[in-house]
Amino acid sequence: MKKEFRFQYEHFTSILEMNTEQIVAVQAAELASMDAYAPYSNFKVGAALLLTDGTMIIGNNQENKAFPSGLCAERVALFNFGSQNLEAEIKYLAIVGGGEMLKPDEIFSPCGSCRQVMAEYADKQATPFQIILKNPDGSCYVFESISHLLPFVFGNK
Ligand code: THU
Repeated sequence: MKKEFRFQYEHFTSILEMNTEQIVAVQAAELASMDAYAPYSNFKVGAALLLTDGTMIIGNNQENKAFPSGLCAERVALFNFGSQNLEAEIKYLAIVGGGEMLKPDEIFSPCGSCRQVMAEYADKQATPFQIILKNPDGSCYVFESISHLLPFVFGNK
């Protein structure tokens, strides 16, 4: 029997079409990307977690001479969140990647390892968090849950 996996996501032409929290999270991720340490790839990525109590936790990619000792922006932010054992939950994860390195018709989408880590923290909390990606053309994709970006995740209940 054939089965189908389908999901819906939102596409906003401009960040201004989103709600204030989503806009603030994308702007925080954009600012964070500017401070990325990416001298080897020159591919700067920023991530921002907006928590249910309004706290913002940012991260950016950190590279290393001894590849692959560095880490992606999303995991820098998520591990910072995890290390603080906070009461508040993640409401939004905004990710901005590549900047001028990407062509206008290319998109930036998080790597598989970061998706697995997102799934871990989503699993720990009561409500899934939204994932917002800003594209080089200024538009944004909004995904309701990591389960849409990582179906049949390892450790799925
Ligand atoms: N990178 C991220 O920060 N997030 C991802 O989801 C994929 C890739 C970083 C890792 C490396 O520093 C650079 O982008 C090029 O791969």
